[in-house]
Amino acid sequence: MANRDIFKSKIGLILATAGSAVGLGNIWRFPIETGQNGGAAYIIIYVGFILLIGIPVMLAEFVLGRHTHSNPIGAYRRLAPRTPWFLAGCLGVFASLLLLSYYSVVAGWTIEYSYLAIINAFDGGTPEGYKDIFNEFVSDPIIPILCFVVVMLITHFVVVRGVQKGIEKFSMVMMPILLVMMIILVGCSVSLSGAGKGLEYLLNPDFSKINNTTIVNAMGQSFFSLSLGLGVLCTYASYFDEKTNLIKSASTIAAIDTFVAVLSGFMIFPAMFHVGFDANSSEIGSSLIFVTLPNVFHAAFGGIPILGYLFPVVFYVLLIVASVTSTISVLEIIVAFVSEEYKIKRQKASIGIVLISIVLGAFCSLSFGVLGDIKIFELTIFELMDYMVSNILLPLGGVFFSVFVGWKLKRQLVEAELTNNGHLHLPFVRVLIFILRYIAPVAIIIILFNQLNILKL
Ligand code: TRP
Repeated sequence: MANRDIFKSKIGLILATAGSAVGLGNIWRFPIETGQNGGAAYIIIYVGFILLIGIPVMLAEFVLGRHTHSNPIGAYRRLAPRTPWFLAGCLGVFASLLLLSYYSVVAGWTIEYSYLAIINAFDGGTPEGYKDIFNEFVSDPIIPILCFVVVMLITHFVVVRGVQKGIEKFSMVMMPILLVMMIILVGCSVSLSGAGKGLEYLLNPDFSKINNTTIVNAMGQSFFSLSLGLGVLCTYASYFDEKTNLIKSASTIAAIDTFVAVLSGFMIFPAMFHVGFDANSSEIGSSLIFVTLPNVFHAAFGGIPILGYLFPVVFYVLLIVASVTSTISVLEIIVAFVSEEYKIKRQKASIGIVLISIVLGAFCSLSFGVLGDIKIFELTIFELMDYMVSNILLPLGGVFFSVFVGWKLKRQLVEAELTNNGHLHLPFVRVLIFILRYIAPVAIIIILFNQLNILKL
């Protein structure tokens, strides 16, 4: 595969892959989940899942991608020709199309909110007012779709420039900016009076809050946050060179992703406690970053000149950056598949996929307004897509990757891939294969059945 692009530098590869992992999942979903599931105790369980299942499944994707230098469908086809395994890859590509469509809708909201922050629209608002701004905005039939299209266009232009010149370069610039912005915001948030209570909430585990739901949620969140299950990581690993240390890379990426998620807690909870919000209250829900936080920012920083203005601006721009480094990874997997398997130019492939995604995303966006009455299994179009992808397709994809690498692939091949043909020392290979064979699939299936109410824990 001489003409295939690869990541140019080690740091570029890490930042691009971490860019996929770090996204709305870290800054939006993680604090909500932490708030609803008991703070530090949830974080401990979450980190347990990252170590026990997340990193092994990530390695399974890496092995498949780097060994075949191919998109997930091509990878399954190459390693298990004339078997139905390629369908597992198809599932990932299909789910990616759905994810790209609805995730980019929310990414679009962050563009509008950055704009609102820049024009100082949150200044002097009331709690009711912030709610109205949000409801009016998301139910509008035009503006959210325009914002969503902007996200799709940025994503498209990064992806068509290719892996090295597009994805890697973009991530090399954006990820450090993201980290610096976050650290500054955390600094502001923890220096507020009363921030100690927020910190205590994040650092002092209360295990009485842990129940089966907490565990199921932590596992689902760890999958979503690490971008597992769809083949995004398999596709990125297909651009790794032979010298890349897969285990070190996976651990570094998981560490960055978890660090950003926890930082996001440090950015949000101290400010919330300072303002007197209860972390377990109904204020923590999916509208957290668009309704509750403008309130919190206003109350916490509104009186401080410049900071009152800059904090929300930086926060929402940060969200755009985090989400676009994720959407490019999701578009990339589909573009890689279409362009490699059907021999279509990347640019053409990307235009086609973006157009389909815009249609799907438009339906999602409209389901917050005019199409809100259309319910399938009592869910709106947006909710249905999110439910299908996050709760069913992601875990299912994860099971396929771990079973394929754990059972179907020859152990020597897996070992050779993980040790770079014996050049690296790998002390835990047995444990890893054991996890991929037994622990990961069983745990994921239990959780999947639980989510589908087939098995009630
Ligand atoms: N991990 C990203 C986030 O936390 C979202 C994401 C990007 C993703 N690519 C993915 C989730 C692939 C699952 C699969 O926001």
